[in-house]
Amino acid sequence: MSKKIILSGIQATGKLTLGNYLGAIDNWVKMQEEYNCYYMIANLHSLTVRNDPETLKNNTLKILAIYIAAGLDPEKNTIFIQSQVKEHAELGWILDCYTYMGELSRMTQFKDKAAKHADNINAGLFTYPALMAADILLYQANLVPVGEDQMQHLEITRDIAERFNKLYGETFVMPEGYVRKSSARIMGLQDPNQKMSKSATNLNDVIFLEDEPDVILKKFKKAVTDSENEVRFNPETKPGVSNLMQIYSSITSKTMQEIEKEFEGHGYGDFKTKVAEAVIEKLEPIQKKYKEILDNPKYLEEIYTKGAESARKLASETLNMVKQKIGIIV
Ligand code: TRP
Repeated sequence: MSKKIILSGIQATGKLTLGNYLGAIDNWVKMQEEYNCYYMIANLHSLTVRNDPETLKNNTLKILAIYIAAGLDPEKNTIFIQSQVKEHAELGWILDCYTYMGELSRMTQFKDKAAKHADNINAGLFTYPALMAADILLYQANLVPVGEDQMQHLEITRDIAERFNKLYGETFVMPEGYVRKSSARIMGLQDPNQKMSKSATNLNDVIFLEDEPDVILKKFKKAVTDSENEVRFNPETKPGVSNLMQIYSSITSKTMQEIEKEFEGHGYGDFKTKVAEAVIEKLEPIQKKYKEILDNPKYLEEIYTKGAESARKLASETLNMVKQKIGIIV
């Protein structure tokens, strides 16, 4: 039996965070043996907000370097940059024409981003989910690992696929969302009710994968907790402490119970230091490798060129099939 296909990606906007690592990339690494994986850097999606061109270019390469440094093997996975596989833009346009304004206006991410960038509510921001649907459907992906915040986009992808299949016969594989276990949902250190976000305005809220050890320690020391001074897991009443426990658990594979026991009778100060140390230790080899890779642009170029070539094989096959079905001369 052939392996199931996985596709996922991260936008090239901003620096990657501990949330991106523990919530996404670390899980991808674990899946690379079992599945046929496509991992991309969604730099076309990044255009939906304004970017400095040089920064966008650098971020794209940095994310690629993080993918590899974190353990994604370019021999085992197809790792590529979205813009280098032109089929994404092409199928994105086609799927725009099979996606309704009403559906798109219900997307919470659109509403959030429109509120945040009120001076730049562009059409791309609105049709963003159709491009994401193209990303997924081009590879006939069976599984799409995403955070909860992307589930709505996955639902609309399924709706678009189903609509298309009904009109033209079986064309797209119906993708399933693969929501990571809740333990890997990392929240902000200052506002533990919000997901840790690379676009956070308070820099103490987020651990960037590039942060130096002393910065990481400082940020954890400042993390918001509560007045109980008791390490106990309860995301509702103790969101700050529970988030720190989740980070610790993701890294050490210890259960919440084990962690509660470990820190029984200890204060938060001690606990925060331990969490910070675990993070620092986990990130150290990744950061080292990351720096080496970034210093070697030729190596990066080799990887993304090969990745795009390999991605294009499947993507062009799907796109040609779509075009034939809808009467677009190939
Ligand atoms: N929209 C996703 C995010 O912001 C990134 C993304 C783009 C993606 N295309 C995708 C994720 C396809 C999964 C599959 O996180």
